[in-house]
Amino acid sequence: MKISIVGAGYVGLATGVGFASMGNSVICVDSDGAKVEKLKQGVLPIYEPMLGEHLQKVLEKGYFKATTNLSSAVRDSDIIFICVGTPSKPDGTIDLNFIEQASKDIGDALKDSGNQPVVVVKSTVVPGATEGVVVPIIERHSGKKAGADFGVCMNPEFLREGNALSDFFNPDRVVIGELDQRSGDVLERLYHDFKCPILRTSIKTAEMIKYASNAFLATKISFINEIGNICKRLGIDVYEVAKGIGLDKRISPYFLNAGIGFGGSCFPKDVRALIAIAKKIGYEPKLLESVINLNETQPLRLLELLKKHMPDVRGKKIGVLGLTFKPETDDIREAPSIKIVRELLKQGAVVKAYDPKAMDGFKKIFPKVKYCSAEEVLESDAVLILTEWDEFKKLDYLGKIVIDGRKIDEAKSARVYEGVCW
Ligand code: UDX
Repeated sequence: MKISIVGAGYVGLATGVGFASMGNSVICVDSDGAKVEKLKQGVLPIYEPMLGEHLQKVLEKGYFKATTNLSSAVRDSDIIFICVGTPSKPDGTIDLNFIEQASKDIGDALKDSGNQPVVVVKSTVVPGATEGVVVPIIERHSGKKAGADFGVCMNPEFLREGNALSDFFNPDRVVIGELDQRSGDVLERLYHDFKCPILRTSIKTAEMIKYASNAFLATKISFINEIGNICKRLGIDVYEVAKGIGLDKRISPYFLNAGIGFGGSCFPKDVRALIAIAKKIGYEPKLLESVINLNETQPLRLLELLKKHMPDVRGKKIGVLGLTFKPETDDIREAPSIKIVRELLKQGAVVKAYDPKAMDGFKKIFPKVKYCSAEEVLESDAVLILTEWDEFKKLDYLGKIVIDGRKIDEAKSARVYEGVCW
């Protein structure tokens, strides 16, 4: 099928390259000309394992193109995916500016086109936004009618950064929220090679499934961190407890890794947005608020443990291993490392940091930090492990003070080793 993808970020690129790898003809649209030029040469603006290799292949086969010209891309597409960002505003609600702009551009492009594409919102939008914002803007700018002249679906993504392509090719389910049967049928045809349940539902339900999924996963993490904080006081290893509860298939062993909390561009943003939605309709989401509150304070527990072994860090060299919010990505958005490094600098520590992928990005926020190799980081008065990069399992921790936020068992050979929840 002919697909256009509006927005060449993590989701847009993984989705576009994924569908192109399956033989569809994909045009990826982005307003950033430099990004588009790099994509044409097979250069990615993000680090995502396997994505570069797949992009090269689909470019060579001519299944993937990149452009800044949305109207030419949209004109003969069967399906138009909106994959632009929906960042958090200070009050926790989401900023729909990019969604509105994409809707306007698509409406303008559809005005003079003869085709009847299905517009699919893949961006994470609050329940009601597709039908309340995207549809009216496209209708106003195109002079056409949703359902009659173009189709509408909402198709949430469940891609994890660092695993985006494998999650694209192996979804647990495909959720299709449809304005009408035809729209859903067209989109289901695109997914017909996927071996997983396809859930057809309403648009608002699909929007809520995305938020509820991320909120549940975030809740599971804050839950195991709470259990971990209790276990720490009782001298129990929460990872052993997690093994025991995870054998119950209703709980499952996944997402029970206690540590310094969740970061990234999704969990914090989506839980805050759901809280904001609930409050707007007069409901007090106590559980979701405690999930966020616990996550806000979890990273600083590492510094409480450091204080036990080093009461005053002023002037002391503190080494930090890992800056990204998780391994196999270069993304530092809402990473626990930001809170921890900010507090260390505030307390007068001399911070030395290493991360395989994120030092350039982190430097923009913390220019005062000394960025160096992992071995140089280990030449510090104490070492904090903030991201579980595989390479940290091969370092020599002998004779060091290590405070571990992400369960690198090999670090237990240190002279002093403390785990945040174990
Ligand atoms: C998440 C969802 O998993 C994905 O389905 C959705 O589409 C986007 O948001 P992502 O944020 O990329 O994906 O990464 P994920 O692997 O879910 O980790 C999120 C955060 O939770 C990371 O900071 C990670 O360190 C933390 N985490 C994850 C834990 O602390 N413990 C766990 O057991 C799992």
